[in-house]
Amino acid sequence: MPEVRAFVFDAYGTLFDVHSVVTACRGVTSDPEALSREWRAKQLEYTWLRALMGRYEDFWEVTRAALQFALKRLKIAASQEQVNRLLSAYLSLQPFPEVPATLKTLHSRFPLAILSNGSPRMLQAAVQSSGLEPYLQHVLSVDTLKTYKPNPTVYDLAPRALGLAKETIAFVSSNSFDVVGAKAFGFQVVWCNRTQAPLDELGFAPDFTVSHLDEIPQALGL
Ligand code: LAC
Repeated sequence: MPEVRAFVFDAYGTLFDVHSVVTACRGVTSDPEALSREWRAKQLEYTWLRALMGRYEDFWEVTRAALQFALKRLKIAASQEQVNRLLSAYLSLQPFPEVPATLKTLHSRFPLAILSNGSPRMLQAAVQSSGLEPYLQHVLSVDTLKTYKPNPTVYDLAPRALGLAKETIAFVSSNSFDVVGAKAFGFQVVWCNRTQAPLDELGFAPDFTVSHLDEIPQALGL
């Protein structure tokens, strides 16, 4: 395999813990984990459906619609103010504990970037509130293309921005569908499998699997 020359990270679930919205969900339900899970699953499903329909709305709108659906399905009554508070949790997501130190280490040797479904405003807010901004050379959003992962045109944003061949870029994601999509595109792929999830049966496998991001240097022999 060619030498790795840059790292590109997925944002939600990989750098930022989307289940940190659980805290916000406590305000409207006694089962905040269920709401958080349902919300996230619908959010991803809506990105795929909108991409297939050719009806792009940005990730903020998709996240809002997914929340409305999750509340409805779980029969949770929430005021507009509570809905707004839940949504705003997405603007200040916590990074996973090992993330700042790992990015700092990798940043000393490689250009780093985010490539995400997130809208530019959501990504800027999360990157700033988490203090990760100094380590990132690019924060790339699907919004410039008006479609979603795993469309290969989305992954192609990274080699273009970095000026590197895709085989020399290590793409890191914790989302199985994103791992498969990135491998199908032609990156070297690291699956951060935080939950010991099974890999999707779509014919592509990651090159490396870790359970936390701080295992990357050792797993890749850096
Ligand atoms: C993202 C979603 C896949 O950040 O988590 O692109």
